[in-house]
Amino acid sequence: MSRHSWGLAPELQDYLRHINGEEAAVLAALRAETERHRHAKMPIAPEQAQTLVWLADLIGAEHYLEIGVFTGYSSTAMALALPEHGRITACDISVTYTDIARRYWQAAGVAHKIDLVLQPALITLDQLLAQGLRHHYDLALIDADKPPTAHYFERCLQLVRPGGLIAIDNVLLGGRVTRAAQAQDAPSVALMQAFNAALAADTRVRALTLPVGDGLTIVQKRRTEAV
Ligand SMILES: C[S@@+](CC[C@H](N)C(=O)[O-])C[C@H]1O[C@@H](n2cnc3c(N)ncnc32)[C@H](O)[C@@H]1O
Repeated sequence: MSRHSWGLAPELQDYLRHINGEEAAVLAALRAETERHRHAKMPIAPEQAQTLVWLADLIGAEHYLEIGVFTGYSSTAMALALPEHGRITACDISVTYTDIARRYWQAAGVAHKIDLVLQPALITLDQLLAQGLRHHYDLALIDADKPPTAHYFERCLQLVRPGGLIAIDNVLLGGRVTRAAQAQDAPSVALMQAFNAALAADTRVRALTLPVGDGLTIVQKRRTEAV
């Protein structure tokens, strides 16, 4: 849930989006339609998509795993960026939201690259591991419900190859992670604070949190890591 980068003046944000490359027409149309949705804040921000696409290209990504599809902004951006033989496993629970995503995958000519699995993502991730897809993915994005974030991360760490990347969205929770958790805060605040602290001390990975969108942590699984 990002749409914009926190603390960045709107004109500077527009400028950055402009100099980082024009948004594909199909992505602009998807963003415009999603702006009218009652959950308009849910998609990743264009600059987050640009970051992921840039990293995917850098590491030569072919297999991308996405947890949290919504109306399809991140998956469409990634599908456009992957090579023709690239493939995406996309996890969500909502038929209604992902029917919009499917429409844009068709419009973008990338539907054949995407395998959408509609059930709670933890089940899907365990099934992928049971199917022997350990170390199969080059890049994963965690952008779904917040309480299972650490569980999603542990599964992704097994599914991503050594040297591969895991991106986690909303790690700053609109700045709420900097405050001592208040009684009225959603449980996600304490949870994200604990997740961020654990990640910083995790020797299996190298983690870097970027202040784009609502905070995007990029984690690289160490090349020597056999998880
Ligand atoms: C923040 S949105 C994802 C935004 C998307 N990455 C984009 O760029 O448009 C979160 C999505 O996670 C899905 N979701 C929530 N709980 C889930 C779960 N347990 N398993 C899989 N998906 C879930 C929601 O249906 C919603 O579509």
